[in-house]
Amino acid sequence: MNFHTRKWVKPEDLNPNGTLFGGSLLRWIDEEAAIYAICQLDNQRVVTKFMSEINFVSSAREGDIIELGMTATHFGRTSITLRCEVRNKITRKSILTVEKMVFVNLDENGEPAPHGRTRIRYADEAFERYRASLAPTTQAVVGVEEAAAGVEADTMH
Ligand SMILES: CC(C)(COP(=O)(O)OP(=O)(O)OC[C@H]1O[C@@H](n2cnc3c(N)ncnc32)[C@H](O)[C@@H]1OP(=O)(O)O)[C@@H](O)C(=O)NCCC(=O)NCCS
Repeated sequence: MNFHTRKWVKPEDLNPNGTLFGGSLLRWIDEEAAIYAICQLDNQRVVTKFMSEINFVSSAREGDIIELGMTATHFGRTSITLRCEVRNKITRKSILTVEKMVFVNLDENGEPAPHGRTRIRYADEAFERYRASLAPTTQAVVGVEEAAAGVEADTMH
């Protein structure tokens, strides 16, 4: 499971008990999961279809840094199923788990559409596809930008 996104728990995220408000956490999770599904299915038209039981394992407090983890557990015909875990970045103590979040891939009419994916794709594969889609002159410019940014060209091939 990759923990890409970190959040800093601020006063506006708290409930009257002084701990992280569940609604804030659910909004962050839904957005993170949607981004994960969009990247995996290579389609911006994905919608949340189903969320299983949400287990608030422990609370987070103001000032805590938490991280959101996602992984795909199943690729269906038009859907993708994710598992989610939120934990304290420093202590790694689990804060929340969602065993099953289902997103559906839609076509331009808003109807479920086959996505053709069968396995998790990683960021470098997506970047490689992007590079391959560029015209040769544009690739040269991207190469210069990478060099300026200190990116080793070899790691991209
Ligand atoms: C998403 C939507 C178009 C799907 O319509 P539908 O008639 O349920 O479509 P289908 O029956 O063809 O199911 C589509 C996929 O969802 C899965 N699915 C449907 N109901 C499910 C459920 N309760 N639990 C898990 N998966 C479910 C199906 O198995 C299918 O996956 P597969 O093709 O990989 O096998 C429709 O339900 C919808 O618009 N819902 C509202 C979405 C929304 O607004 N979300 C909140 C904001 S993002």
